[in-house]
Amino acid sequence: MSKSLGVAVIGAGMAGKAHAAAYRTASTLYSPDLPEIRLVSIGDVNAEFGSAAAKRFGYDRHDSSWQAIAEADDIDVVSVVIANKLHREVVEGLLAAGKHVLCEKPLSDTMEDARAMAEAARNASSLGRIGFTFRRTPGIAYIRDLIRSGTLGKVLHFSGRYWTDYGCSPEAPMSWRYKGGAGSGALADVGSHLAYVAEFLCGDIQSVSGGQLSTVIPQRPLPLGAVMGHDHSAVSDIFEPVENDDVAAFSAEFTTGVGSLAVSRVAAGHANTLTFEVFCENGAALFDQRRPAEIGLFLNEGASAQNGYRQVVLGPEHPYIAGGLAMDAPSVGFGQNDAFGYQARAFLEEVAGLPAEKSLPRCATFEEGVRNMEILAAVTESAQLGGRSVAIPQPAFA
Ligand SMILES: NC(=O)c1ccc[n+]([C@@H]2O[C@H](COP(=O)([O-])OP(=O)(O)OC[C@H]3O[C@@H](n4cnc5c(N)ncnc54)[C@H](O)[C@@H]3O)[C@@H](O)[C@H]2O)c1
Repeated sequence: MSKSLGVAVIGAGMAGKAHAAAYRTASTLYSPDLPEIRLVSIGDVNAEFGSAAAKRFGYDRHDSSWQAIAEADDIDVVSVVIANKLHREVVEGLLAAGKHVLCEKPLSDTMEDARAMAEAARNASSLGRIGFTFRRTPGIAYIRDLIRSGTLGKVLHFSGRYWTDYGCSPEAPMSWRYKGGAGSGALADVGSHLAYVAEFLCGDIQSVSGGQLSTVIPQRPLPLGAVMGHDHSAVSDIFEPVENDDVAAFSAEFTTGVGSLAVSRVAAGHANTLTFEVFCENGAALFDQRRPAEIGLFLNEGASAQNGYRQVVLGPEHPYIAGGLAMDAPSVGFGQNDAFGYQARAFLEEVAGLPAEKSLPRCATFEEGVRNMEILAAVTESAQLGGRSVAIPQPAFA
């Protein structure tokens, strides 16, 4: 195992800060069996953002180009947390320079780029992984365990939605999220998470149908300054067209069972509502990101007059929590930021060469990132074909 690992994060925006913080906490989670983690650089073309994040999260420096990070001898591990259409160039450059890369979802904004990135990762001497953070959410991981162990058993029906409201105001400023081809809007942004969670729980999607992509706010004002994440900054009176979907929906056929999935960025009142109910042969489970420290569980047992959904408050008996929180007592609560810590920890464990059986579940591969995008591309095709069923071509990942 290497004596130390130097870390950098490219992108000091909304999610970049979560990665920067996560590498800080990763070695404080679980046993102290990681090498020393050196927090080296935050890279951002906006020097103000880069410098503020480096200072806040205790990184040695900030850089204003990804090339400087690729060339730096003191950096081994890099998170790529910038606009989707920039992922390919940066990830390929970093892999070519021998860096281990954790790329944000979706892998890219086009299938061509995503496949090229997977090819680059296959040929690289270093690791390429993708950050589907919600697989680290204890409640979601526990529901998966309940399905796989047979407690819930075979999935019959998944009903999920990821509703956000960041685009709900027509005054929300134009940003990279509103630009790109069909399906690169809410479907790519939050649908990538929901489609991944659906397969994580229910297994492979065989086909999708009923694809629907809608743009309901057709233009947005240009911001007067740099915009971070979903911030609502001051805007000018110049408007540009919105190029992609505000709302998307589709049905999915799993190997067993069916699903209906819906996503939105104009859902007033739902800042970050990833929620689903999964109905199985022995019962059902319910998750809602607004209450991440609990799940709802219904099991077909006991007298029907007394049966019903029960609230299960998550604690040390559930995935990730024992040792994964500084105070890992029942009901202490946790949220989405903790999942970034588990993700960073898993990536560092793999880079450091810890055996899989002694590590957190590995991060998803670039092949899984391609697979995820193939589902989203099929939804887009279904929408363009008036909702027709479209088969998912690729063999499943394990
Ligand atoms: N896993 C999650 O929960 C989650 C949440 C939000 C975003 N994301 C993903 O993270 C990525 C970034 O999203 P965000 O919301 O943080 O974006 P953002 O707009 O808030 O931040 C992007 C940052 O990249 C910087 N930047 C732009 N071009 C650059 C370049 N060439 N080199 C270096 N820096 C550059 C910008 O100045 C900005 O600070 C996207 O892929 C998005 O899908 C994931």
